[in-house]
Amino acid sequence: MVFKNSIAFARSLDRIDPLRLFKSRFHHPTVNGKPAIYLVGNSLGLQPKSTQRFIADELNDWAKLGVEGHFEAKRPWLHYHKLSKNALAKIVGAKPQEVVAMNQLTVNLHLMMISFYRPTGNRFKIITEAGAFSSDQYVFESQLKFHGLNPNDALIELKPRNGEFTLRTEDILESIEEHSDQLALVIFGGVQYYTGQLFSINQITKAGHKAGAMVGFDLAHAAGNVPLSLHKDDVDFAVWCSYKYLNSGPGGVAGAFVHERHAANFDLPRLAGWWGHSDKERFQMRKGYKPMPGVDGWQLSNFPVLSGAAQLASLQIFQEAGMRNLRKKSILLTSYLAFLLNEFDSEGSYYSVITPSTSAERGCQLSILMKKNGRKVFSKITTAGVLADWREPDVIRVAPVPLYNSFAEVFRFSEIFKKALTK
Ligand SMILES: Cc1ncc(COP(=O)(O)O)c(C=O)c1O
Repeated sequence: MVFKNSIAFARSLDRIDPLRLFKSRFHHPTVNGKPAIYLVGNSLGLQPKSTQRFIADELNDWAKLGVEGHFEAKRPWLHYHKLSKNALAKIVGAKPQEVVAMNQLTVNLHLMMISFYRPTGNRFKIITEAGAFSSDQYVFESQLKFHGLNPNDALIELKPRNGEFTLRTEDILESIEEHSDQLALVIFGGVQYYTGQLFSINQITKAGHKAGAMVGFDLAHAAGNVPLSLHKDDVDFAVWCSYKYLNSGPGGVAGAFVHERHAANFDLPRLAGWWGHSDKERFQMRKGYKPMPGVDGWQLSNFPVLSGAAQLASLQIFQEAGMRNLRKKSILLTSYLAFLLNEFDSEGSYYSVITPSTSAERGCQLSILMKKNGRKVFSKITTAGVLADWREPDVIRVAPVPLYNSFAEVFRFSEIFKKALTK
């Protein structure tokens, strides 16, 4: 499509957008009494208007039924973790028995690494991207120490080439092959939180397996943002949070995927709790842990129903919109943003967009590396009604989300940004 730098053109794209009505299904925050331009769904997704009703249902059942709600609630709490399976499976490209909502992302990453990072004398190394999200770095460091290993010897963090901001797939694959004798685990973000780079899950997984390693992904910035096919891509495990693109509210219940290949491998070491125990015998309270087959056998605690209710509200919207349609709009929306940013500063005097320039290598988010006055510009756009986010040391991340952002908002953002840079 040939884009134009005008509000009339942006509005014309909104008029033909088949997903335009979804915007009104969300609450939109305000800045100084006016609706904000909300470009920070990569940090916290907006609240669907239906969320209150979903949570109120559970509060009402709790009020009316007390403990009996586990069996008698409209959505019985005992089985609540099953209610999100179909929708989550579609979002991450899995079978329902391969996904479960549970815990928080960092907790799930630890649980998965306990099972899938099994270092031996020769094979103990982990490959990941340099500059992974801090929590992931702490997980890797503490897991290595837990196994008595030194992170300086065992953790390989891949950096982009000199003068580049993102990793080349060929370099990732080469490094995996190079370390194949010693590699135990390959773990990457799906979409890198800082640069917005979408990694090739398929190629990384193939290379990791060829090297004899397990392969996992942190999909915090990928789930609900880009189409995924974890089952087909043969990924061993993945984890994600649900408060970003999955709009499940602050601290919303996270998710995990374990490939069905591992479903009946009860020899895998794992941390256990009663909610992962065979549900037929769970209430017999006997000694001897018998995990359920599939990812359900990694659950520890009973399900957080209020948080899960919020998730169900959002998943219903995802099912109506469909990931394929969302991706189609997302590509157009983010390409339009990239076009406007490039029009204004094609020489890179004020900033460079460090997110890959092709849609196949990115999701919604563009990361704008500020050359000067980054903090000041960020504060000016915030005052002018743009909610985006600042990531140290010098990046403004903006993520137009296809469910609730419009082309007109992207255009208005570009005007506000230009003004903040030049005045
Ligand atoms: C890529 C990534 N990993 C991990 C986390 C930590 O998530 P949680 O606090 O849900 O464990 C985040 C949070 O934003 C994230 O973006």
